[in-house]
Amino acid sequence: MATRVLIGGQWGDEGKGKIVDVLTERASWIARFQGGNNAGHTVKVGDSKYVLHLIPSGILREGKTCILGNGCVIDPAGFLKELDEVHAGGVNTSGRLWISDRAQLALPYHRALDGARENRDCKDSVKIGTTRRGIGPAYADKMTRIGLRAGDMLEADFEERLRVNIREHNETLVGHHCPTLDPEAVVSEVLAASERMKPLITDTTLLINTAVLKGEEILFEGAQGTMLDIDHGSYPYVTSSNTTSGGAATGTGVPPNRIEDVIGVAKAYTTRVGEGPFPTELDDDTGLKIAKIGDEFGATTGRPRRCGWFDAVVARYAVMVNGINWWAITKLDVLDDFDTIKICTAYELDGEVIEFLPGHINRFAACKPVYEEMPGWKTPTTACRTWEDLPEACRNYIHRLEELTCAPAGLVSVGPKRDETILTPKAPAEFRG
Ligand code: GDP
Ligand code: IMO
Ligand code: MG
Repeated sequence: MATRVLIGGQWGDEGKGKIVDVLTERASWIARFQGGNNAGHTVKVGDSKYVLHLIPSGILREGKTCILGNGCVIDPAGFLKELDEVHAGGVNTSGRLWISDRAQLALPYHRALDGARENRDCKDSVKIGTTRRGIGPAYADKMTRIGLRAGDMLEADFEERLRVNIREHNETLVGHHCPTLDPEAVVSEVLAASERMKPLITDTTLLINTAVLKGEEILFEGAQGTMLDIDHGSYPYVTSSNTTSGGAATGTGVPPNRIEDVIGVAKAYTTRVGEGPFPTELDDDTGLKIAKIGDEFGATTGRPRRCGWFDAVVARYAVMVNGINWWAITKLDVLDDFDTIKICTAYELDGEVIEFLPGHINRFAACKPVYEEMPGWKTPTTACRTWEDLPEACRNYIHRLEELTCAPAGLVSVGPKRDETILTPKAPAEFRG
């Protein structure tokens, strides 16, 4: 198979970066299709650790071409800082990193507005707990049709249009009783960045579709997760893009009937950063134990992640809305030392047991998890390299997740490093070969 989408099956931070890094051994192209530098994808290569925010994780493998698709929002300063870090790590990106001319720009006034909305001390406004990277305001401008795109940097009227936007957004900042931005400082920052970005801006829709027609291997790298999708997630506690598999088509211009496989990444438990309901959240020592062993701190903001048991209702929903063909289950090793492990199989809502996720946030917030409990394996798994190496109780746990979510586990991750990965007998044959 040539085209695969990899998406997060929970609330983000499932370990997508690591799995992309493992799977790109086979791929030639890696494309981000949504989000911006709100993402934080951690990849460990040997003794080096990289945290990628905007640049696809595939950049760490020589000879692979990476694309930031039209569905992304690109913060020029953030992008260039990250590019410098990647170069400082000894990675040569020359000729293999391209930005879509149709991608939106996330500019300093978007960051200011994001912060202003989050700081609002008003009981009637919803605090999302965003990453403050300007993601919501940048996508809002896209939809309002006033956004500036990467391709605009190549046009003669870019500075003029930038100035109009700065003026308009400063008026909004005044409305929020927030300090306005100095137009000259913003203009000089963005124009300087544009000079470095210009050579990378191209028609990626044409590039990637040409590769698709040639049958080259393409991996679409999702950011965030299903429950953070603007339409299908726990709205309004979501990000502002389509994080689900359909976003790969709209966010790169590759038509949906050319996408052949969908891989869901899920942790063996659940985490989330930011505000919003989380039915299996553990506000106790067990939650703290998971957070400590799993080192659950945000890769972008450093915020502690909220932790809880695996929620099969969420994962089943992710299978449905993404068309997940198989799972990569990560961080199994984090559960190595638990006497028993719980799985949420359904919710109780208004005295009824329901097996599907309610659409409205108020109803979702009222859901109580219905658990079943399985014996733990109490054995370290990080050194396991084959399915048979895993303790029986651990294999039973994975089997139960497969049953409850109606999708097989083709890959199991038992540590952050590349080789701490097990391809199960259910992985597609080309990966096992
Ligand atoms: P992403 O946003 O989905 O790419 O995930 P993050 O990088 O934000 O968070 C996942 C964290 O778990 C990173 O620190 C990874 O290095 C780490 N990680 C990934 N897979 C495993 C695993 O199987 N076991 C352990 N212990 N850590 C893992
Ligand atoms: P990766 O790709 C986890 C969360 C924020 C907040 C909400 C909206 O590393 O999995 P935004 O800044 O996007 O407007 O914030 O979404 N969020 C993430 N949580 N992982 C991420 O990315 C996230 N990106 C955004 O915490 O709740
Ligand atoms: Mg992350």
